[in-house]
Amino acid sequence: MNTYLCHFETLDSTNILAVEFAKKGAPEGTVIVAKTQTNGHGRMNREWVSPLGGLWFSIILKPQVDPRNVAQVTLVTGIAIAKGLRKLYECDDITIKWPNDLLLSGKKVCGILSEMQLDVDGAIDYAIIGVGINVNVCKDNFPNELKNFASSLNSSTSKSYSNEEVLNVILREFIEFYEVWMSKGIDVLLPVWKQLNSTIGKAVSVKDNDKVIFSGVVSSIDERGAIVVVDNSGLKRTFDFGEISIR
Ligand code: BTN
Repeated sequence: MNTYLCHFETLDSTNILAVEFAKKGAPEGTVIVAKTQTNGHGRMNREWVSPLGGLWFSIILKPQVDPRNVAQVTLVTGIAIAKGLRKLYECDDITIKWPNDLLLSGKKVCGILSEMQLDVDGAIDYAIIGVGINVNVCKDNFPNELKNFASSLNSSTSKSYSNEEVLNVILREFIEFYEVWMSKGIDVLLPVWKQLNSTIGKAVSVKDNDKVIFSGVVSSIDERGAIVVVDNSGLKRTFDFGEISIR
């Protein structure tokens, strides 16, 4: 996969522009990057605060997979980002929290928002992978309610890399793992995800729209990227949506 970088000073949201570009036929590998976003959004329609210093970008993809498997791209992206950041920052304490957060010492430093569009025949038209990484964001810029849960790479590691360096490293890893996914499928990547994750084995509450719907211990992840949670009566449930809080 080739990449085609498009840089902007300010956008409402790189995901929104990526959707517009994809609808106009932009090729796979188009990457939209903005220094700030005025209407950045996260999962569950939450606001994503996107000040200067952060790395905000979206990749247009056209994965040749069964549409039922397209959500696996989030696992692939998580692997690529965790691997890239671990290498660059020489830090093994960067882990993946299911489904799509990256934590550094337990605090969120990156979120991934994927959006898919199918065509009239039910085939994948395009997928947009939006990535927000708190690279050099000053902690004072985090909203109060996030200060205990979020961090930036720069403040937690005292290492300072430009957003360009971080983007290059991540795109290199992404291309590698995306190509593995395309050629070999997710089975060879699940062990890699498992090795990087900090979710399996944890006691969690599964939430849907901020409401707890199940609590238990995460026992595994399946090939669709869904987590398997077992409660203390032994009841096992699988979740491929929602979010978890680690208890
Ligand atoms: C989340 O953790 O809820 C996902 C956050 C994703 C944020 C990124 S920043 C770049 C791209 N543009 C957006 O509006 N959102 C994503």
